[in-house]
Formats: sequence, C-alpha cells, structure tokens
Amino acid sequence: MPNLIVVGTQWGDEGKGKIVDILARDADVVVRFQGGSNAGHTVVNARDTFVFHLIPSGILYRGKLCIIGNGVVVDPEALIDEMDRLQAKGVEIGKNLVISHRAHLIMPYHKAIEKASEQSKGSRRIGTTGRGIGPSYADKMARIGIRVGDLLNPGLFRQKLEENLAEMNCFLERLYQVSGFQVEKVFQQYMGYAERLKSCMADTSVVLNRAIEQGKNVLFEGAQGTHLDVDFGTYPFVTSSSAAAGGACTGTGVGPTAIDAVMGVAKAYTTRVGSGPFPTELKDEVGEGLQERGKEFGATTGRPRRCGWFDGVLVRYATRVNGMASLAVTKLDVLDGCRELKICTGYRHAGRLYKEMPGDLQVLSECEPVYEVLPGWRNATTGATSYKALPPQAKRYLDRIEELAACPIDIISTGSRRDETIVLRNPLASARPKRGRARNAR
Ligand code: IMP
Repeated sequence: MPNLIVVGTQWGDEGKGKIVDILARDADVVVRFQGGSNAGHTVVNARDTFVFHLIPSGILYRGKLCIIGNGVVVDPEALIDEMDRLQAKGVEIGKNLVISHRAHLIMPYHKAIEKASEQSKGSRRIGTTGRGIGPSYADKMARIGIRVGDLLNPGLFRQKLEENLAEMNCFLERLYQVSGFQVEKVFQQYMGYAERLKSCMADTSVVLNRAIEQGKNVLFEGAQGTHLDVDFGTYPFVTSSSAAAGGACTGTGVGPTAIDAVMGVAKAYTTRVGSGPFPTELKDEVGEGLQERGKEFGATTGRPRRCGWFDGVLVRYATRVNGMASLAVTKLDVLDGCRELKICTGYRHAGRLYKEMPGDLQVLSECEPVYEVLPGWRNATTGATSYKALPPQAKRYLDRIEELAACPIDIISTGSRRDETIVLRNPLASARPKRGRARNAR
C-alpha cells in the first residue's frame, strides 16, 4: 500500500493543509515529521473552518491515526490549546493522537531567547514566527534538549531543567538583559502538561512500522517548504528543521525503503513570509492584488505574505531535492482576471544565466528573474472540479508549470473548500489510473 510524503516546494504556505486533508481520506495514518507550531494551515469543510499548527489535519476524519513524530518540536501549551479548540468544535481526540516520546519540547526560555536574539539582529533578523523553534532544535543538536518522554520522569526533567536554566538565564539576563525563568515555576507548569499528555505518548516509530507491515497507507505531512529547509533552503533565512522529503525518515523512524512516492505542493504563484531573497517578488499593485485575492496573511502570526510570480527554477529544484513524483498546484483561482501572467524560467546575475538555483545567497539576492509572459484568462476557475472546464489559457499555464518543474501535476486546487479541487490522479487511492490515462482525461 502506498506511503506518501507531501512537501512544500516553495517557502511554505503552499496550501499543503488542504491537499493533505483531501489525501487523508485514503490514508490510515497521517504523521507530522518536522517543525512545530510555527506551521499553520486552515482546513475548510462542510462542518466548519479548522486551524492546525501541530496536530495532523487527518484528525478530522474518524478512524485515522494521527502521529506527531520525533522530528517535531512540541510546545505542550500550544498543543493542549489546539486539542481544546478542536474538541470544542466536536472533533474527537483520544487514542487517535499519538506523540513520539523522542520529540523535543519547546520551553519558555526558547521563545524568550528567540525574541531577544531577533531583536538584537535588527535589519539582519530572520523574521521568525517567535514560537521557539530555532532554539529548541539548537538544544537538540547541542544534546541538552528536553524530550516529551522526559515529562514522565519528574526527577530527570527537573535536573535537565535546572542545568539548562543555569545557562539560559545567564544568556537572557547578562547578554540580552531581559528576565530569566524560575525552575520551580516552569517545573510545575510542565508537570501539569505531563498529566494531560501522558496518555498520548508512545514510541511512534514502532507504531508506524507496525502499520506499514500491516499494509496500511501512511501519509507523511510536511510543514513549511523546501526553500525553508535548514540544508536546502535559502540559508540562513530558513527554519531550523528538515522540511524536505528526507526529513520524513529521520523525523519518524521509518526507513527510506518504505516510502513509495513524494508529492510536492506548489502555489500557482509564489509567497514568502519573513526575511530573505525572493527573486520574483512583486512590490507593486500586482503583488498587492495577489495578496488580497489570495488572502495571503499567515495562519500562525497573521503577518502579510510577500507575493510574486511563479518561479520555475525554485520548483524544479524542489522536484530534484525531494525526488518528487508529482505536483499539486494550489490557488489557481487567485490568478483569475489577470491580463497576463509571468513565469520565471531562470535568473541573470553579473552577465551569467542561471537555470538552476544558485547556492550563493548573494547571487540569489541580487539576480534579475528571466520571465516568459503567458496570456491570462477572464473566465473564473473558482470551484472548477474538472480539467475540461478550465479555460485554455489556464491549461497552457499549468502545462508550462509542469514543464518547468519537470514534474507531472496530479491535483489542481481551485478554492479553499474540499470539493473545489481537480484530482487527475490520487497517489493514495487503491484503484490508481496510470499517468497516461490521467493525461488523456484532459
Ligand atoms: P521559524 O520557523 O519560526 O524559526 O522561522 C524561520 C523562517 O521560516 C521565517 O522566515 C518564518 O517566516 C518562516 N516560516 C516558519 N514556518 C512557516 C510556515 O509555516 N509558513 C511560512 N513560513 C514559515
């Protein structure tokens, strides 16, 4: 049975939440493998609108097992708040949510250090979400992190907390000159979280591998996007986790041989939140129009997203580093009514043409995008559910995306609702039409 990884191909916010929600119908298990509550996505279904940060959106379906893998950094306060909000809307959360005891915790001092560090950087700040993600992963790599499973051992938890606070309070008070934290207060707060979360903790690698052995379908839900990946993104303007497909194995304890395919999600244009290079950014009324029509404001921080044209170089790079077998293109409807559309096919810098992502951040920051101009379409694509119903110009635009991304399109999203979707091929459904048939159906 297929095990599929879904990743973002741009700088996050590609609409992965909706795609995962659609695919989750045919999955038995949905697992998050990296990031934390910096992620945010909205799922709109017939019942209500739901915002997710840590819990896989598969929780909306009955009978699906949702897992928070070891690669995730868990802010227990944010997680409990999300559980409460979902339960208040009638979503059942019990044995269907399992958290890895190997996942690292986000502690209050992580958020304080991030805030102080960002403030001290001034114009060189990364523009983080302020959720303590970077400092928590830094502690993990420095081998001083506190893990979810440590909550079950109060003595060990307290010892680690004391050791960490001795160092972190020094940073906060002496270097950044802000208040530190009291051991007792944090200890009591986290013991309260332990009470609430202890029944959800498990060795999720065992749970997942058992499910795979039983032939169940596992959906690996990526957060952020390839260009925010700590290795493959626009470093240092990235998040601190492995958001590319490779992170799905290290972040869950499932070996690469168990993965059948990778699907990348790309918005029909490009957006970015926070600082860092963005070659196709539009700082004019066209960009403002995309921001307004696309409701491009972050689900986590509410920050406006920077908007720009579709960048073929960016997405082709994602096809390569993720080994993507297919693409889901989202928000096509946002482009309705544009007279013409530009699509980036390369970058020019110091007289040189780049057809692949330059590894040098300075080149990326200074380059000129090379554009191809395609005609727009007048007729609305909003809510289209069949490829045939799309205007010919929209089909041509999608064909060009496919060519530039070097990856076939399986899904096209034409609105925020579940049913506003064109599924050419569902990589998780048991009766899977061959790629050729999907093409002919067009
Ligand atoms: P952090 O993940 O909070 O450390 O932020 C690092 C960078 O990643 C910042 O530019 C954030 O805006 C960006 N980022 C983090 N999570 C998301 C997301 O879910 N969508 C889009 N950008 C994100």
